[in-house]
This record gives sequence, structure tokens and C-alpha cells, in this order.
Amino acid sequence: MMKAGSFYGLIMGALLVSSLQMACTTEPKQDVAVLKQQGVLENIFQRKSVRDYTSQPVEEEKINTLLKAAMAAPSGKDRRPWEFVVITERAILDSMAAELGNARMLAKAPLAIVVCGDSTVSSYWYLDCTAAGQNILLAAEALGLGAVWTASYPYADRMEVARRYARLPENVLPLCVIPIGYPSGDTQPKDKFNEAKIHRNTFRQ
Ligand SMILES: Cc1cc2nc3c(=O)[nH]c(=O)nc-3n(C[C@H](O)[C@H](O)[C@H](O)COP(=O)(O)O)c2cc1C
Repeated sequence: MMKAGSFYGLIMGALLVSSLQMACTTEPKQDVAVLKQQGVLENIFQRKSVRDYTSQPVEEEKINTLLKAAMAAPSGKDRRPWEFVVITERAILDSMAAELGNARMLAKAPLAIVVCGDSTVSSYWYLDCTAAGQNILLAAEALGLGAVWTASYPYADRMEVARRYARLPENVLPLCVIPIGYPSGDTQPKDKFNEAKIHRNTFRQ
């Protein structure tokens, strides 16, 4: 026969265990959601164009993460018209840097991703690929890498250079070249928030 004291102890023990379980399951779940949200916003606000890199190569695992992030982008009718050319060959990066005045930083980058779109898959390939390109920039920031969008489209001369080095077929058009590497220096994000750009209900002149 169990004594009243030990029965009371048993009940208290059970209550303690269940409250500990609740503390470990319910509350932290909320915290994780908040932390995730903060992480996403922090990533967006910290992103900046980085144009100077160390010579440290970018790990293959990180390259794969950048590409996974790119392909997680939304696309019209879910057509996913993107194609990505990953360039790590020093000779190609240097030659492109020499021909592209707007992307000279390729000469220091250990990696570039040419974001391309298949115009036969979607007539607004450049919109879908822009979402993919932005995801690459955000993922680079999250991985401690530096990156910058350098425009190919809509400039015929720049597109021709990217097309030639990446050996693109006719229907695949280069949108941008994104040089990527470990940042050299300490580029800070710009604060671009501007109240005047916000119009509530109707456009304010
Ligand atoms: C469509 C587009 C084209 C761009 N083209 C170039 C480019 O050719 N060369 C370059 O150095 N930066 C280029 N940039 C980067 C912008 O200069 C940069 O995003 C802008 O100055 C704001 O700075 P932030 O990215 O640090 O916020 C481009 C950005 C966008 C979105």
C-alpha cells in the first residue's frame, strides 16, 4: 500500500515532467519561428553588392546551396525557365573581366554564376530569372560570401560576351553575371528606406 506522502511525491513528479515537456516543445517552437523570421529579415537588410574578394575558393557545397536557393524562386506558371552556368575557370573569369567594363571585379572573383533564361520556355524569362538572381544574392550573404549583380540583359554587347564564354545556345539568354567570393574589406549595406516612396490608397504627388 502506497503512503500518502509518496503518492503526493509521485503526482508532483509527474506534473514537473509534463511542464518540462511543455517548456521544451510548445514555447521553443514559437521562439524558433520568431528567430527564423528575424534571420530572414536580417539577411535581407544585410545584403549589399560586394565587388572585392579574397582568393579563397568557394566550397562546392556552398555553390550547390546558391543554386538551390536560385531554383527555389517563384516563376510565372511555375515554368522555371532558368539555366545557370557556373564558372570557376580562372582563364574564363579573367577574359570576361577584360571584356566587360561593368564586371571588372570578375578578375578577382573565384566564381561567377551566369543567370540565364530560356526564352522558348517563357516570354517573361527575365522576370523569373531576376527572382532567381536575387535569391543567389541573398544566399551568398547568408553563407558569408560577397556577390554583385552585373547586368547582361538588355545590353546586346554584354549579352554577346556572356553568350560566347558560357557557350549558350540561341534560345538561352544571359540575364546577368554574378561574381561571387569571400569579401575582402567591409562593405556595409545601404539604408534605402524612404517614406516618400510609400503611397497609401492613392498615389501622392
Ligand atoms: C538590374 C541590375 C543591374 C546591375 N548592374 C550592375 C553592373 O553592371 N555592375 C555593377 O557593378 N553593379 C551592378 N548592379 C548593382 C547595383 O549597382 C547595386 O545593387 C546598387 O548600387 C545598390 O547597392 P547595393 O546592392 O549594395 O544595395 C546592378 C544591380 C541591378 C539590380
